[in-house]
Amino acid sequence: MRDENLKIAIDCDDAATDLKKALYEYLKNSGVDITDLNYSSKKAALYPEIGYNLALKIKNGEYDRGILICGTGLGMAIIANKVEGVYAGVCHDVYSAERLKKSNNAQVLTMGARVIGIELAKVIVDAWLESEFSGGRSQPKVDQIQELEQRSFHPSSQIY
Ligand code: RB5
Repeated sequence: MRDENLKIAIDCDDAATDLKKALYEYLKNSGVDITDLNYSSKKAALYPEIGYNLALKIKNGEYDRGILICGTGLGMAIIANKVEGVYAGVCHDVYSAERLKKSNNAQVLTMGARVIGIELAKVIVDAWLESEFSGGRSQPKVDQIQELEQRSFHPSSQIY
């Protein structure tokens, strides 16, 4: 069951405007608290700055989760993962979308508008939003990701 209090942000690059619009309207009509950051409307933005903008807002606590869409979902996942404390993955199937939250506790779901259609994207987003982090055997793994990322972001305070 989806947490009704979740604040969701969505954005895309020029390869995914139709899919973003369709998902935004679908989620809005489903009662999701969703904001279209629309970063690319301000200028001819590229996916790295669009993804970074959303990921920073997740890091800062403005939104609980984010959806980023580009042509493949790959570039958006790469850039979102460059923000400390933000974890993103590409999902083009329902099982992966569930595991992205249940196992990996990722706050950002990315998809490729050139890879999947609108109806599949809706089902994938629903599965991810309805999933919660399971903890248990997944907890030490995500803890280790957080510890290891400190090597990248704060190399002077190495813990290993
Ligand atoms: C197009 O700019 C394409 O490179 C982008 O949408 C995305 O697929 C990159 O990963």
